[in-house]
Amino acid sequence: MSIGITKTRKVVIVGTGFVGSSYAYALVNQGAIDELVLIDLDFERADGEARDLNHGMAFGSPMRIRAGDYDECADADLVVITAGANQKPGETRLDLVAKNAQIMKGIVKQIMDSGFDGIIIVATNPVDVLTQVVYKVSGLPKERVIGSGTILDTARFRYLLSEYFQVDSRNVHAYIIGEHGDSELPVWSHVQIGGLPLNVYGQIENYYQDQDMQELFENVRDAAYHIIERKGATYYGIGMGLARLTKAILNNENSILTVSTYFEGEYGLNGLYLGIPAVVNQFGIREILRLRLSDQEQQQLEHSATILKDLLNQIGY
Ligand code: 2OP
Repeated sequence: MSIGITKTRKVVIVGTGFVGSSYAYALVNQGAIDELVLIDLDFERADGEARDLNHGMAFGSPMRIRAGDYDECADADLVVITAGANQKPGETRLDLVAKNAQIMKGIVKQIMDSGFDGIIIVATNPVDVLTQVVYKVSGLPKERVIGSGTILDTARFRYLLSEYFQVDSRNVHAYIIGEHGDSELPVWSHVQIGGLPLNVYGQIENYYQDQDMQELFENVRDAAYHIIERKGATYYGIGMGLARLTKAILNNENSILTVSTYFEGEYGLNGLYLGIPAVVNQFGIREILRLRLSDQEQQQLEHSATILKDLLNQIGY
């Protein structure tokens, strides 16, 4: 028997606002990694978060946490970008685009200047557009630039379906795809509860016309607005979603997650990032799942892609 030296799993978070620090907190609680570096424009803030998290170490799994600078990206496995301007009440995610594209450019340049050669996850909104900006600016292969996409929307969908049908959400399979935002869509044709399609389990013959299902989806799509109206921001759900994605990558899980991925002909779409179920492992995106969408779903996906393409054109990506 040989004793191998296990490589340190190092993650750098850029941006220690609500989302970045909730993600860090989820990582600490789940013991998912060995080393965590927090970068923020406001170093004191990142340092404060690192100290606070370190004080929980005696109650969780040991890992090293510190505030740092972009040099720390050089040997990181994963850099997760959560920095950017926030969505204000009433503001759509797309309103943020120009502001955050500029911020992204500056961040990516500093990450790449360090000699970084790992995987980047982008969580800043509008996430599909900004993931494309990061992909283009970084020069990394598309497999290694991943957006958080519709992971959270998919989790919200599964949660609401599980509540509606009173079935454990882990037994609900369902996807939200497309833009992480107003044009996203539910893949009703592939919803399964305990392996049964909705028309069998729920006896819902036409999910597109069903009032309850329509309302349920609207609550998924508008969830962020509902939360922002009440508490100003969303962060726990996405923080946990990012931790899930981190584990899928660092533990080479080959998990199927609805991340934002670069399309090159899949579903007839080209040259943009959109949320779609994909197999995720230590190399990033292994493959995009080819769902057999209904005609209506295909049209909605194309509509979502058109909205994002327009926006990408406007900002020159
Ligand atoms: C969310 O969906 C605002 O993207 C954030 O919660």
